[in-house]
Amino acid sequence: MDNQKMVEINSGRCIGCGLCIKVCPFETLSLEKGKAEVTGELCISCGHCAAACSCGAINVPRIDSSALEFATFSLDHWWLPFGEYDTAGLVRLMTSRRSCRNYLDQPVARQVLEDLAKIGTTAPSGTNSQCWTFTILPTRKAVITLAEEVASFFRKLNRMAENVILRKALKLVGKGELDDYYEKYYALVKKSLDEWKESGKDRLFHGATAVIIVASKPGATCPSEDALLATQNILLAAHSMGLGTCLIGYAVAAMAQGTDMQCRLGMTSREKVYAVIAIGHPNEKYETVAGRKQATLRYFEG
Ligand SMILES: Cc1cc2nc3c(=O)[nH]c(=O)nc-3n(C[C@H](O)[C@H](O)[C@H](O)COP(=O)(O)O)c2cc1C
Repeated sequence: MDNQKMVEINSGRCIGCGLCIKVCPFETLSLEKGKAEVTGELCISCGHCAAACSCGAINVPRIDSSALEFATFSLDHWWLPFGEYDTAGLVRLMTSRRSCRNYLDQPVARQVLEDLAKIGTTAPSGTNSQCWTFTILPTRKAVITLAEEVASFFRKLNRMAENVILRKALKLVGKGELDDYYEKYYALVKKSLDEWKESGKDRLFHGATAVIIVASKPGATCPSEDALLATQNILLAAHSMGLGTCLIGYAVAAMAQGTDMQCRLGMTSREKVYAVIAIGHPNEKYETVAGRKQATLRYFEG
């Protein structure tokens, strides 16, 4: 699609205010004889121009407004001006979101899961590439299937880690990862695997009844950042919807070892997984929010 088609300007409506030009990140537009025109080489279809236009003179065909239509709540398309949101309310949501490790045996409605994925897409993405994918496991059965796959990966890893000669030999040639794993995780993982086998206790997904896997397709300029920003949106929105969430780093680590597991879930081998989010109706509650470690904070005054 060339730039002329990426941004369509109705010159009859344009009043030449120049706001679209001011907010465009790539100087795609300029004012020619008092009207906005597409004159630049580059357009990332961010839609800032159309969103700033008070006359409805601009259309960005690659943007699909229906992509942000939600099934479980209604939202108008009006922009919230700077400073017009309750900061304390927002921070209360952020501090009240905790990793949930106790879930009810109750499914999460598919529409809710789809809305969460859509909410993920409101995050920023490098050069607006939006190359993320959201793979929804909507049932406990599907979550258990993934849990079995992850458990199988860790069983193999633990067997390797039990081999002291292998661990030390790898360390000698500068590959100390298996030895590190043995020191930090082996015993904990072994306990979890044994419990999973013997009593079905789910220390991996904590009994969650749904999962969203956030991944990136090729073509993203900043794939990990994009996926993780989308992920945080999902975590916060889920809390606001009454759902608990927990990031499952063990599942990400298992899926990073090859693409077979993701292909069995319907993903392509070219996607890269950055977050596996356990989701469900929470079976826990808190009285207070938790403190945080003091952050390293510094100024540089130039
Ligand atoms: C990248 C990442 C991976 C995580 N993996 C796991 C995991 O595998 N299992 C788990 O129970 N919690 C996991 N967590 C949750 C953290 O333990 C949790 O975020 C941290 O203890 C802070 O608690 P909070 O999320 O309740 O604020 C993970 C968190 C992050 C950011």
